[in-house]
This record gives sequence, structure tokens and C-alpha cells, in this order.
Amino acid sequence: MSAVSTTTDTGLGIALVTGATSGIGRATALRLARDGWEVVVHGRNAKRGAEVVREIETQGGRARFVAADLKDVAAVRNLVDQVGDIDVLVNNAGASWFGPTAALDEATFDDLFDGNVRSAYFLVAGIAPGMAKRSSGSIINLASMAGQIGLDGGAAYGATKAALSSMTRSWAAEFSPRGVRVNAVAAGPVYSASEKAPLIDRLGATTLIGRGAQVEEIAEVIAFLGSDKASYLTGATLAVDGGRTAI
Ligand SMILES: NC(=O)c1ccc[n+]([C@@H]2O[C@H](COP(=O)([O-])OP(=O)(O)OC[C@H]3O[C@@H](n4cnc5c(N)ncnc54)[C@H](OP(=O)(O)O)[C@@H]3O)[C@@H](O)[C@H]2O)c1
Repeated sequence: MSAVSTTTDTGLGIALVTGATSGIGRATALRLARDGWEVVVHGRNAKRGAEVVREIETQGGRARFVAADLKDVAAVRNLVDQVGDIDVLVNNAGASWFGPTAALDEATFDDLFDGNVRSAYFLVAGIAPGMAKRSSGSIINLASMAGQIGLDGGAAYGATKAALSSMTRSWAAEFSPRGVRVNAVAAGPVYSASEKAPLIDRLGATTLIGRGAQVEEIAEVIAFLGSDKASYLTGATLAVDGGRTAI
């Protein structure tokens, strides 16, 4: 039942958070470190990565930074080799694009699918079998309400996030009988680095709670899914969207 297997002398085990140099990923890395996980902080920006590691260490936690551009599948495989055994994998790194369908060029379309979908696929392909061998582990994929409902201008981005929810169910079917839980968080509008405040204000107003989320409100749910408190939860996509998809 335990999600712990590579237990370090200081804590629960090792968590890899992709895209932890900013936004939801950064808040998740800080939260998991506070909970006692040793955190592998992933991203591209080494300066911001070092800052997150320093912040974790200042708070008494353990972390290291690993850089990789996840649009590059060779870099994804290299990341798998570098990190070794992982107990909690948070597939958070991702990019969004909103606009008229006819205005999206092919290169950006490919970047969205390579960075949001293919990257998570091959990280799971590289890391989940080891978890299954150790009969423990938790994988959390960052989906979105954009993958659950139709948003004007969000066809391609929403499709990448719907793919993550779909893969979550299939990976649960594949790995949960061997002790690995796989879930997704379908976040609503969140104030983060990449999302412009006016867009989050506008989308936030359409939720039942009437506002966008702070990154810590999403990190809290991710940390729960990574912990043994969520021991009977797998294959689920949790809507953390202020009730937007309930209506
Ligand atoms: N904000 C929202 O409203 C919202 C809503 C629903 C779902 N989400 C999802 O939540 C996740 C985090 O979003 P956020 O708003 O927190 O984003 P953010 O603040 O822009 O941070 C994105 C993170 O992902 C990393 N990243 C992006 N593309 C990458 C690539 N190709 N290779 C390696 N790292 C890459 C960035 O690394 P560097 O900066 O180091 O390059 C950064 O750490 C995304 O998957 C997003 O789709 C966000």
C-alpha cells in the first residue's frame, strides 16, 4: 500500500516534478519538499531552477535541478536515465496556445503535442515500469478543464489535455494492478507565469467559485494524490476548477 520505496534517510522518497521552475510546478515542488519528499526540480531555465532548489534547501528540504527540453524525445530519455528510481512523478511541464484554429501554424501544433503529450508518454514509459517492479509509486498528470469542455480557441491545447486524461486511465489499467496509482488533475484557470491575469480573471468569473485559482490550491491536490492519503484513488481525473465543469 505504501507509495514509498526508495526511502531516503531524510524523508519519504524521491519526487520528480517536471516544469518546476515556474507556476504550478514550482508550487508543487515546494509543497512536496515540505511534506518530506526529496524533489528533482525539472525545467529548462537553470537560473530559476537553482532558485527553486535554494528555496527548498532554505526550508530544510532536499532538491536538485535537472534541465531538459521535453519537446525533444532524446532529452526525455536522457532525463529518465539521469533521475534513476522515482516514487512520485508529476507530469506538469506544458505549454498552451489559444487563438483561432486557422491561425495555429504546424510547428506550434507539433510543439504542443510533443511538449504536452509525447513527453509525458515517454517519461511514464521510462519510469513507471520501475515503480511497478517495486510495487509502489504515484503518477500525477496535469490535465485541464480545457480538455473537458469546449473553449473557443482551445482546440489544439484542449486536445493535448484530453489526451493526458485518456492516458491516465490506460496507465491506471496497465500499472495499478502492480501497485502504481495514476491520476490526473484537470485544473481550471490558474494565476501562473504563462497565463495572463486578464484571461484568468475572465475564465475565473465563469467558475462556481467565481475566481481563478492560486498555484498553491492546485499543488495541494497534487501533493494529496502523491501521498498515501490517496491510497484508493487511481485512474481518476480530478476537476480542480472551482466547479466550472460541473455546470
Ligand atoms: N495556468 C493555468 O491556468 C492552467 C490550467 C490548467 C492546466 N494547466 C497546466 O498546468 C501545467 C503548468 O502550467 P503553468 O501555468 O504553471 O505554467 P508555467 O508557469 O508557464 O510553467 C510551465 C513550466 O513548464 C516548463 N516547460 C514548458 N515547456 C517545456 C518544455 N518543452 N521542456 C521543459 N520544460 C518545459 C517550464 O520550464 P522553463 O520555464 O524552465 O522553460 C515551466 O517550468 C501545464 O501543463 C498547463 O497546461 C495550467
